[in-house]
Amino acid sequence: MNTFLQPARRGLALVLAASLAAPTLARLPADVNGARIVHANQEPGNWMSHGRTYDEQRYSPLTQVNDRNVQQLGVAWTQKLDWDFGVEATPIVVDGVMYTTGAYSIVYAYDARTGQPLWKYDPEVPRDKGGEGCCSVVNRGVAVWEGKVYVGAFDGRLIALDARNGKPVWSVDTRLDKAKSYTITGAPRIVHGKVLIGNGGAEFGVRGYITAYDAKTGKQAWRFFTVPGDPAKPPEDEAMAMALRTWYGNGWVKWGGGGTVWDSMAYDPELNLLYIGVGNGSPFNYKFRSDGKGDNLFLSSIVALDADTGKYRWHYQTTPAEMWDYTATQHIILAELEIEGKKRKVLMQAPKNGFFYVLDRSNGQLLSAEKFVPVNWASHIDMSSGRPVKTGAADYLDGKGMKIVVPSFLGGHNWQPMSFHPGTGLVYLPAQETAAGLEPQQEPMFMPIRNVVNIGLDVPQLPEDPKVVKQIAESWKGRLLAWDPVAQKARWSVEYPTAWNGGTLATAGNLVFQGTADGRAVAYAADTGKLLWQAPVNSGAMAGPVTYTVGGEQYVTFMVGWGGSFPNITGPLSLNAKVKPESRVVTFKLGGSAQLPPPRHEAAVLPPLPPLKASEAELKIGRTMFNGLCANCHGLNAVSGGVVPDLRYLSPEKHGYFLGIVYGGRTERGMPSFAKGIGPEQVELIRQYIISRSHALKAELAAAAASAPAP
Ligand code: HEC
Repeated sequence: MNTFLQPARRGLALVLAASLAAPTLARLPADVNGARIVHANQEPGNWMSHGRTYDEQRYSPLTQVNDRNVQQLGVAWTQKLDWDFGVEATPIVVDGVMYTTGAYSIVYAYDARTGQPLWKYDPEVPRDKGGEGCCSVVNRGVAVWEGKVYVGAFDGRLIALDARNGKPVWSVDTRLDKAKSYTITGAPRIVHGKVLIGNGGAEFGVRGYITAYDAKTGKQAWRFFTVPGDPAKPPEDEAMAMALRTWYGNGWVKWGGGGTVWDSMAYDPELNLLYIGVGNGSPFNYKFRSDGKGDNLFLSSIVALDADTGKYRWHYQTTPAEMWDYTATQHIILAELEIEGKKRKVLMQAPKNGFFYVLDRSNGQLLSAEKFVPVNWASHIDMSSGRPVKTGAADYLDGKGMKIVVPSFLGGHNWQPMSFHPGTGLVYLPAQETAAGLEPQQEPMFMPIRNVVNIGLDVPQLPEDPKVVKQIAESWKGRLLAWDPVAQKARWSVEYPTAWNGGTLATAGNLVFQGTADGRAVAYAADTGKLLWQAPVNSGAMAGPVTYTVGGEQYVTFMVGWGGSFPNITGPLSLNAKVKPESRVVTFKLGGSAQLPPPRHEAAVLPPLPPLKASEAELKIGRTMFNGLCANCHGLNAVSGGVVPDLRYLSPEKHGYFLGIVYGGRTERGMPSFAKGIGPEQVELIRQYIISRSHALKAELAAAAASAPAP
């Protein structure tokens, strides 16, 4: 459905926008092509591609806002988004118009100067689809090309919109198998008139690939698979024949193999190579997937493809035999670095596994790799073979049970984009220190229920004792690292109270911008790391900020909104962020004097609690069921990170029709139906577990009140 927010003003605003940006040539909106992106530095006021340029440096040459005047930044405009679920989009700004997305892949077009809405397109992703992805109904933004805006919808559609009015022009279903939970959360990239998009779903048993579609028609141009299909059938291409030799048994055929290309891509126009980041294995459990043998190409790899044909050129596998959710889908940056006196065309990535990699991007040769956060699964990367030297400390398949894995499945770095400043030579990396226990299932107990993660491991066990949880939460730090990729060490760093801080933006004004998990927009001096400016934005800000100019004035935009796997799944560990989810576009400029609406303040009050009727043994089952089925949104051990209701506060009335909520879902509001697969007795055990957690919370609050100093 297409909603015209301001039908009367829409046309006017677009004409105005076009005329401001190009006085001599009245351009159509989003009239971007490859030449314009390649020459992006000639029009630094626009942000025309996901990482601004094809090399994805997220560096802006703009200097109007700089280290001497950044303190004068004030709010220029704000716009509330429809859903207060996670916001991960990088806006695209072209000739005075901003195109961005919110939860459920809804696309918003604004006048970039005033924030006036121009149009909105809601692809109407079914609101109960959230359970079919690991980490909420997020979206990382659109791509634009020759008058069209492209969005990957959470349900697997790739949709082209008319940039003038947001009307759909074409739509294709990118899913290989409609019965499986393929999603899209990543932003498309466009090279030589082909729209490139991958999928998510490696926690739900899918096979990964990336597809190129003709930007004009939506016709499929090529598809590159990242893991082999059924060995009983001929491999799709030589790359798949090569990959097949690194897989054993055929367990992965049933469980998809994984390797989804859910986020990063970069493009080198000179080499005509497209670089893609490939995700984790499906299932995580390597024994069920590949008999515990083989490297399992191209899981956790960076793969270089011919951008026109999708043919394999080279790969570098960061984590052979991946079994820890160590995706290599994290942001890829291309740059020129001087290494040992030689100028090298490099590719840089800091994937989840905790090592910062510098590769020669012409051939995939490893130039260096060092740890940027604490790591326990490997001691170092052997430079002659390019392979990690594993310690065994994280090997949960050694028959000795649960292992603490460092970094955790959230990664030393996740999707939050980093940036590279060619002047300082530093990469500004939103890193995090996390650890989590992983324990294999003895027999595959994958649940045949939609909406349920199938990874062949027990759900990470988080202790319930609040003191222990507090300790773990305090050890899960966030850090902004100013990483020197030549010396492979941090030049400066900033510590944050939690993980999951925002992506970064570097500018020629000697600035690094970042949103924080604790609800601020901040700017540091790019060379020294000195904090120069900060402003509240009311909610966790995770997305990568952008900067642009309209009418000669520079703006900085933060997409604000808390969510994703950290608050949703590991809810109890995210509470030090102390923010409520509130999704909004917040744009700053020098001397801006608009008002940010006040933050939400709903004090949670524990209602009268139903009596607890279950035995210890029943509560244990209830807990396993809750953590397996509900914790992905409502938080482990029924402690929510605040994005989805905290069920410990459920009213007596809702307890009365709990079964109805679980079976019926709240399908218009993001709560899926669990009508199939769990019986009423099991639902009652889940409810009893929630009640036990409410009673524990009540005792905790009473103890805290008793020990609080008298007023
Ligand atoms: C995909 C995410 C997701 C999963 C998985 C999920 N829920 Fe929910 N749930 C939600 C959302 C979002 C809401 C809030 C809906 C609304 O705003 O009305 C919700 C609401 C609820 C409510 C009503 C809360 C209230 O205060 O009104 C109950 C009860 C509930 N869920 C129970 C469960 C149980 C039990 C499970 C596991 C069997 C579960 N949910 C799994 C997303 C989820």
